[in-house]
Amino acid sequence: MAKHYGAFRAVDELSFNVARGSFFSILGPSGCGKTTLLRMIAGFLSPDAGDIRIGGKAMHGVPPNQRPVNMVFQHLALFPMMNVGDNVGYGLARRGVAKGDIKRRVGEMLERVSLAGAQDKRVDQLSGGQKQRVAIARSLVLEPTLLLLDEPLGALDLKLREHMKIELKALQAAFGTTFVYITHDQSEALVLSDHVAVMNHGRFEQVGTPQQLYYEPQTPFVAGFVGANNRIAGVATRIDGLEVTVTSAEGLVIPARAIGQVSPGDAVEAFVRPEVARLARDAAVLMDAGLPSFSARVDSLLFDGANSAVLLREAHSGTVFRIALPQTGEFADLSIGETVAFGFDPQRAVCFAS
Ligand SMILES: Nc1ncnc2c1ncn2[C@@H]1O[C@H](COP(=O)(O)OP(=O)(O)OP(=O)(O)O)[C@@H](O)[C@H]1O
Ligand SMILES: [Mg+2]
Repeated sequence: MAKHYGAFRAVDELSFNVARGSFFSILGPSGCGKTTLLRMIAGFLSPDAGDIRIGGKAMHGVPPNQRPVNMVFQHLALFPMMNVGDNVGYGLARRGVAKGDIKRRVGEMLERVSLAGAQDKRVDQLSGGQKQRVAIARSLVLEPTLLLLDEPLGALDLKLREHMKIELKALQAAFGTTFVYITHDQSEALVLSDHVAVMNHGRFEQVGTPQQLYYEPQTPFVAGFVGANNRIAGVATRIDGLEVTVTSAEGLVIPARAIGQVSPGDAVEAFVRPEVARLARDAAVLMDAGLPSFSARVDSLLFDGANSAVLLREAHSGTVFRIALPQTGEFADLSIGETVAFGFDPQRAVCFAS
């Protein structure tokens, strides 16, 4: 399907399937067309081209309230004047469901989102996470085939987001509802999803499992956007099977595995993940392991518990690499200015013609 605003292609020709009962995320930077795409699925916008099928049924011409779909919005849209119970029961009341049934279904739903007994609370007495659960309960109580969620955790603080991530995944699994979830947070997409579409400039760059996106990115954008990565731009100076030697303008020479067609002399981008690189005090350790070895100076130490890293300046070219700091005590006394060695398995670094 596609959606243009004048000459601007907010959503370019794209086509995809979401398996029933799965958690599908659309991950992309601000302005790439995520909300536009979701609004077309919900029926608030009609595509300029193409069609949408839900449960095998074409949605062309079907108004939003008659689609088996519900949407949790980017900016919370609870009714502030209504209590929690009335917020959750709102859609059922509009459908003409009997009062007693509404009461029962709202009660059950609030239990399932861990808000049992909160019916009479005012919305403004709830925390951000509780409000978010009310918003989700209000959608799920209508038993949609498909739930669309537009950055539902965007307004929450980091700690609460981490917590809600786990709750959302559990809710989705418990209900078996198909979720299409929008986010610009790559960690959220990886943790939550069965499949992720990485979107950029109105197009899907790659659709795959979190592992496929992380380990087998198919485009430089995906390699750079999903997970931390060291990016090295250069020229392919040698090719041996799938292994490309990349030489940067600063004189860094590294090996990497080619993704797609790469020919000698091509401008290329290589990516090395921080946790793929190995750190050693003695270069011989790396050479014994059959890895290329680079001499480097410790520029900064970034302590962050399990995600601690070190910024290394490669001696010859001055290129700075972010490298994960091993959890073993061996490098606990690493200090700024010290000279160390690092290396990595070329198979685990990727390279694209750019
Ligand atoms: N009604 C409109 N008229 C013209 N351009 C629009 C309109 N709505 C959105 N756009 C443009 O289309 C592009 C995609 O917008 P969209 O809201 O889908 O992005 P998004 O990926 O959801 O971004 P964010 O992560 O910031 O919410 C943006 O560049 C936006 O400026
Ligand atoms: Mg948006």
